[in-house]
Amino acid sequence: MIVTVTLNAALDITYVVEGGVRPGATHRVRSVAERAGGKGVNTARVLASLGEPVLALGLTGGASGAALLAELDTAGIPHRFTPVAGSTRRTVAVVAQPLPGATPDTGHPGDAAGGTSGFGQPGPQAPDPDRHNPAGHNAPTHDGTADETSGLGQPGPQTPDPDRHNPAGHNAPTHGGADTEVTGFWEPGPEVSDGEWELFLAEFRAVVRDGVRAVVLAGSLPPGVPRDAYAQLVRLAADAGAPTLVDADADALREALAARPALVKPNAEEAARALGDEAPCGPDVPGALARRLVAAGAGAAVVSAGAAGLVAWWDGRMLAAAPPRVVVGNPTGAGDAASAALALALMRGSAPEDALAHAVALSAAAVAAPLAGDVDAQVLAELEPLVTARPLS
Ligand SMILES: Nc1ncnc2c1ncn2[C@@H]1O[C@H](COP(=O)(O)OP(=O)(O)OP(=O)(O)O)[C@@H](O)[C@H]1O
Ligand SMILES: [Mg+2]
Repeated sequence: MIVTVTLNAALDITYVVEGGVRPGATHRVRSVAERAGGKGVNTARVLASLGEPVLALGLTGGASGAALLAELDTAGIPHRFTPVAGSTRRTVAVVAQPLPGATPDTGHPGDAAGGTSGFGQPGPQAPDPDRHNPAGHNAPTHDGTADETSGLGQPGPQTPDPDRHNPAGHNAPTHGGADTEVTGFWEPGPEVSDGEWELFLAEFRAVVRDGVRAVVLAGSLPPGVPRDAYAQLVRLAADAGAPTLVDADADALREALAARPALVKPNAEEAARALGDEAPCGPDVPGALARRLVAAGAGAAVVSAGAAGLVAWWDGRMLAAAPPRVVVGNPTGAGDAASAALALALMRGSAPEDALAHAVALSAAAVAAPLAGDVDAQVLAELEPLVTARPLS
C-alpha cells in the first residue's frame, strides 16, 4: 500500500459564472462543484483510479473538512485524516465563461443569470434587492482603507506561488476555451497546534508500521506545523522500512532533504526555490537542479518541466523523458500524477527508465482529463507505449 500525506488539504470549490468576473459586482453562480483537493489527495486519487491500494492521510477540520472527507468516501478513496480544531481551507475557483451568443461583459450583475442558466438560480427581478450591496448581504460595503481591507484575514497566496499554472485552484478546469477566464481565492488554512501535530505523528507512525510500501509527502505546510515536518515524516517512514517521495516547494522541500528522502519530485521552479543560492542556472537547468538536489540529500531527484517532460538524476545517471506530443488540457495536477507513477516505482523497485516513462505517460494523461487527480485512460493507453527515457550526458 502507498500512503499519501496532505497536511494542507483543501476543499476545492469551482463556481461557474457567465459573462466575466467584475470587481464590486454580484455574480449569479451557474453551477457549483466541490472536490477534495491538495497535492497528496490528487496523487491518492490517481493511484486509486489505477486500482492501487492507497491510504490518504492529512489534517482536516470544520465543515469544509467534513465535506472533503465525504467527497473522498464518494470517490472511494480510503483515508484516515487527523482532526484539527481549525477549518480545512477552501480554494474557490471562479470559472467565467462568455455568455452564449453575447459579448462577455454586459454590465449589470443580474444580466448574466437572468433566466438563462436553467440551473435553478434565476437572476434578481427588478427592483434589484442587491443594488445597495453588490458584494453580498454580509460583506462590508464601506470604503475600507488599505489597512481595513487587508485586515479581513484572507491573505493571498504566499510567494512563491505554488499554483502558477492555475490561478483558480488545483482542480478547476483551465481549458474551457480562449474566452474562459479563471479567478482564484485561497483561504489560508487552519492554524495547527503542537498537540494536533503530535496526534498526526502518532497516527502516521502507526500507519507506516503496518506494512506500508511507499509514502508520498506532497504540498505546502499549514501554519503551525514545524518547518521540518517532512523531515520528521521521512525519518519515521524510513524507520518503518518505507521509502518516501517528497513533492514540495521551497523551505518544505529544503528541510526534507536533510532526512534523505528516497526521491524528490519538484518542478523546476520549486527545485530552484528549495536550493536558493545554490540553484544552478544555464541551459541544462532541470538536470543540474536534479543533480544538486541529490547532492543536498535526496536519494534520487526527478525535476519536471511542464510539457518538456522530466529530467532525473537517479542511480548516478542523468535521464530524461518527454511526452511524444503536447497534450492540450489542464496541466494542474500533472505533477501529482507523475508523483503517483514514481511512488509506484519506489514501491516496486522499478528501473529508473521505466519509472520515468510511466510518469511521463501518466502525467500527460492527467493533462487530458479536466480535473486534477483524474487521468484520461484512452490517452494513457495511447501514449504509454510511445514514451521511453533516454540517458543525458
Ligand atoms: N501539456 C502537456 N502535455 C504533455 N505532458 C505534460 C504537459 N504538461 C505537463 N506534462 C507532463 O506532466 C509532468 C508534470 O508537469 P509539471 O512540470 O507542470 O508539474 P507540476 O508543476 O508539479 O504540476 P502540479 O504541481 O500542478 O501537479 C511533466 O513533466 C510532463 O511530463
Ligand atoms: Mg507539482
